[in-house]
Amino acid sequence: MKADTLNYRAEGPADSPAIDALHAEAFGPGRFARAAFRLREGVPHDPTLSFVAISNGTLAASVRLTPIFIGDRPALLLGPLAVKPTFKGRGAGKELVRMAVAASRVAGHALVLLVGDLPYYQPLGFEPLAPYAVTLPAPVDPDRVLVAELTSGALIGLAGAARRALSPLAKPGQPG
Ligand SMILES: CC(C)(COP(=O)(O)OP(=O)(O)OC[C@H]1O[C@@H](n2cnc3c(N)ncnc32)[C@H](O)[C@@H]1OP(=O)(O)O)[C@@H](O)C(=O)NCCC(=O)NCCS
Repeated sequence: MKADTLNYRAEGPADSPAIDALHAEAFGPGRFARAAFRLREGVPHDPTLSFVAISNGTLAASVRLTPIFIGDRPALLLGPLAVKPTFKGRGAGKELVRMAVAASRVAGHALVLLVGDLPYYQPLGFEPLAPYAVTLPAPVDPDRVLVAELTSGALIGLAGAARRALSPLAKPGQPG
C-alpha cells in the first residue's frame, strides 16, 4: 500500500485543536510539569516559526518555537516536537526541525534551545552545553539541554537561567 504523502507548511490557527490532542497523546498529563512546558507557560508560540506536517488533510506532526530568554539574551525554545505514531520514522520530525531552524535563522534569531536527545538533534545542528551552564525552571538531565547557534558567536559566554519571555500582560512583580 502506498504511504500517504506528507505535506509541510507553517502552522495556522485552525491547527490548534489537533496539535493540542497530539501533545496529549505524545506526552500525557506529565507534560505540564516539564521544564520546557514551564518556559512556554503563558507565552504564545511564534506561528511563523512553527510548522506542521499534514497527510490527507489531517495533522501528522507538529513543532513549535516560542520566544524565551537565556540570561539576558533573547532565544527560542524548540518544542514540543511530536509525530503521530502512524507517521513515525518517515522523516517528519527531522524535517519539521530543519524547517523551524531555517525559518528562525532567516528571521534573524541567534539561538534555539531545546530539551531532547543528542543523537536525534545533533545531525540537525544542535550541541550540548557545558553541564548546568544554562539552568531551566525545573530539573532536567543536563546532557539533554541542547542549543543550535544560528549566528556566529552566539554561544560565546552563554550562561544563566533560561526563563519565560516577558508577556506584555504580566503585572509588575509577577513573573512574565
Ligand atoms: C521523537 C519523534 C519526534 C521522532 O519523530 P519521527 O518523525 O519518527 O523521526 P524521524 O522520522 O525524523 O527520524 C527517525 C530516526 O530518528 C531516530 N530516533 C527517534 N527518536 C529518537 C531519539 N529519542 N533519540 C535518538 N534517535 C531517535 C529513529 O530511530 C530513526 O532513526 P533512523 O533514521 O536511523 O531509522 C517522535 O518519535 C515522537 O513524536 N515521539 C514522542 C514525542 C517526543 O518524544 N518528542 C521529542 C521530545 S524532545
